[in-house]
Amino acid sequence: MSLADMPKDFLWGAATASFQIEGATREDGRGESIWDRFCATPGKVKDGDTGDPACDHYHRYPQDVALMKDLGLQAYRFSIAWPRVFPEGVGAVSEKGLDFYERLVDTLLEAGIRPFATLYHWDLPQALQERWGGWIGRDIVDAYADYVDAVTRRLGDRVGDWITLNEPWCSAYLGYTTGGHAPGIQDPSLGLQATHHLLLAHGRAVPIIRRNSVDSRVGITLNLWPIDPATDSADDRAAAKADDAANNRLYLDPLFKGTYPAEVIHQFGQGRPTVRPGDMDVIGAPLDFLGVNYYMRHVVHADPSHPEGRATSIPALADTTATGWEIYPQGLEDLLTRLQRDYAPPAMYVTENGAAFNDEESDGGVVRDERRRAYLESHFAAAKRAIDKGARLRGYFVWSLMDNFEWAEGYSKRFGIVYVDYATQERTVKDSGLWYADGIRTFALGS
Ligand code: FCB
Repeated sequence: MSLADMPKDFLWGAATASFQIEGATREDGRGESIWDRFCATPGKVKDGDTGDPACDHYHRYPQDVALMKDLGLQAYRFSIAWPRVFPEGVGAVSEKGLDFYERLVDTLLEAGIRPFATLYHWDLPQALQERWGGWIGRDIVDAYADYVDAVTRRLGDRVGDWITLNEPWCSAYLGYTTGGHAPGIQDPSLGLQATHHLLLAHGRAVPIIRRNSVDSRVGITLNLWPIDPATDSADDRAAAKADDAANNRLYLDPLFKGTYPAEVIHQFGQGRPTVRPGDMDVIGAPLDFLGVNYYMRHVVHADPSHPEGRATSIPALADTTATGWEIYPQGLEDLLTRLQRDYAPPAMYVTENGAAFNDEESDGGVVRDERRRAYLESHFAAAKRAIDKGARLRGYFVWSLMDNFEWAEGYSKRFGIVYVDYATQERTVKDSGLWYADGIRTFALGS
């Protein structure tokens, strides 16, 4: 597979997120986020790691953008930290916070790199957690709309591609049901309400972005799984269908079809979300693209002891990454073709795909990550097969530009195509990054 095999107008990029790379968590008036609080709570994040200094990107963004330019990246997906813009979640805007993103965007544009801005990649202002229980209180939808208004007023003339939310499944399910992510709440009855408010906030933001950023493109990023039954038995197939409804369709159906999957809502009894008249119309605002984050598939078997009668597992013999995730490129082809068939979004981007391995830097400043290179190549090839079958995939963002703070795993998992020495903040392009840069160069020559 050569990157040059993709359609001429394809976009090659890399992605990061504010909390994972910026550091400087107390600088220029930034408010506390739920992830600062979560990190400070003993036992929540591996090795007690925190968002400081991460990759110190807040100070090093000029060098980081220069590095992106050296790599030949055509696009860069980053996120904006709500608590830098509204330290208390609502109230007074912090101009200094907006100034940082303006400097970043201007530097990207000068380097000829197209900015894709994600408005919410999990770092909610802690003040809103305390005020309304975060995504559980409906008032947060207005607060998010005000935040999006402030950001898009300032950057709307320069950013042309907006992503409202990153992986609302993670915000809702990991944040409120399992508690493995901030704010760390473990209450199965809250996940659906959080989901509804996230989607409603997304829908409210869409017309605001269109008003403030004329001619821009607006999308949302979902983490989606292709789902395979463990066997061909009727029970396993039914379990796979239920898993798809609870994890994929719970987000896709309201966004593209205006309804929640009935079976999921019925299952929940007490945990049924409060949905007001008109909400579904707001959520269904037409989008320009769907962002797809793909890391793995679900293999599902029927399990009577599970509350909803299903369980997922990783195939025992599968090749896995350092996070234990199965390496399954075929899943990306399956997923993209399914999305095209069932939802027909006007365009799609792979907004994240990548792998953690236990990289080591050798003395000569080389990081030999052949497994990551092979991982990327096999997934690019799967994406190409999906395009050949009609999927309107327009671009690909590798996760991640550089090693960074991997949420509850702290700094222990390295996903970058650039290695970060956290003691010195030195960046070293890994072999996978050199390969990617070379591929983009060849692609650009032909396009
Ligand atoms: C995704 C997140 C991203 C990163 C990757 C590995 O779920 O969106 O921030 O942590 O996983």
